Amino acid sequence: QKGGYKHFMLKEIFEQPRVIHDCLLGRVDHATNEVSLPELDAMPVPKRLHIVACGTSFHAGLWGKQLIESWAKVPVNVEIASEFRYRQPILEPEDMVLAISQSGETIDTLAGLRLAKEQGVKVVGLCNVVGSTIARESNYVVYTQAGPEISVASTKAMCSQLTLLTLLALYWSRRKGLMADDERKKAMRGLLGLPEVLEASLPAMRDKARFLARTYSEAKSFFYLGRGLCYPLALEGALKLKEISYIHAEGYASGEMKHGPIALVDPKFPTFALALNDALYPKVKSNLIEVQARGGKIIALTHPGLDLSVDHPWLLPEVWGPLNAFLALPALQLFAYEVADYLGKDVDQPRNLAKSVTVE
Ligand code: M6R
Repeated sequence: QKGGYKHFMLKEIFEQPRVIHDCLLGRVDHATNEVSLPELDAMPVPKRLHIVACGTSFHAGLWGKQLIESWAKVPVNVEIASEFRYRQPILEPEDMVLAISQSGETIDTLAGLRLAKEQGVKVVGLCNVVGSTIARESNYVVYTQAGPEISVASTKAMCSQLTLLTLLALYWSRRKGLMADDERKKAMRGLLGLPEVLEASLPAMRDKARFLARTYSEAKSFFYLGRGLCYPLALEGALKLKEISYIHAEGYASGEMKHGPIALVDPKFPTFALALNDALYPKVKSNLIEVQARGGKIIALTHPGLDLSVDHPWLLPEVWGPLNAFLALPALQLFAYEVADYLGKDVDQPRNLAKSVTVE
């Protein structure tokens, strides 16, 4: 069942090239570079979107917000479902709720969905499990088609959610006639080329992760830092590490460091940074110099040709713009996996956790 892999988590990380391929199947027209999501054709483009989710799915939502706002110009609020359900969110009739859930059974996300429907707001479910409660109760459903995810630590599900959120942003921008043709072409070509690039990169990524896991396995705490599109990935990297290795890890927007957290940095408190080649790279770089000035050791996911000087640069192949997340994500997952495995933890069944959280 594990297909020769030691754990389901590792198998699922390595399935991600296929997951992206399957998510795109039937949804992109290679000739016209158009996205089609027929599931949503009957629904107007929302005036405002409220993304409601938990855990890893929430991080996917934070990432998707940036693409939906920049390409489709739909204002997006992303909220943890257990918070959303217990306040009185202002929902207008032309708003829409997007409930993101791999299992489709997370109780808080389901409660958020029901709250929205009670207030007459339409809900789109972005789910992996076909026929799950969230899928059944949503007004519209888009399936991520990632296949069963067994490991408690969610990996390929997030990859599929990011793929669908990218498609959703492209789809709404097309319906609103917003995105320039050449930009759309770059996005589509980038998406279609991702499975091959990722497939070719995963073995070396695993070797690097294994080496770094051994180097940093004695750390008691980690910062994960990123900005912009890398900020949700920093949150996700920290969640993965704490969830399966039980090492304390905090994800931060790196610009926040000097507002308090940097006080914690010393030679025994390492940082895992995302310093990719994007508009915010110079800002991230200067945040990292401040960490180094306090003696903090740094692992940084980065791109060839950047002038970053850290203890352990981890070079990723560079793809188009926001799609670099699809290479950074498995690096974060593999690092957490290798640390947990090296420390002898039960990777697929971490203590205190369940795959679907069906009670509050
Ligand atoms: O099935 P869902 O996507 O609704 O699950 C949400 C979270 O419970 C889930 O992502 C959890 O955070 C994972 N264990 C993270 O790896």
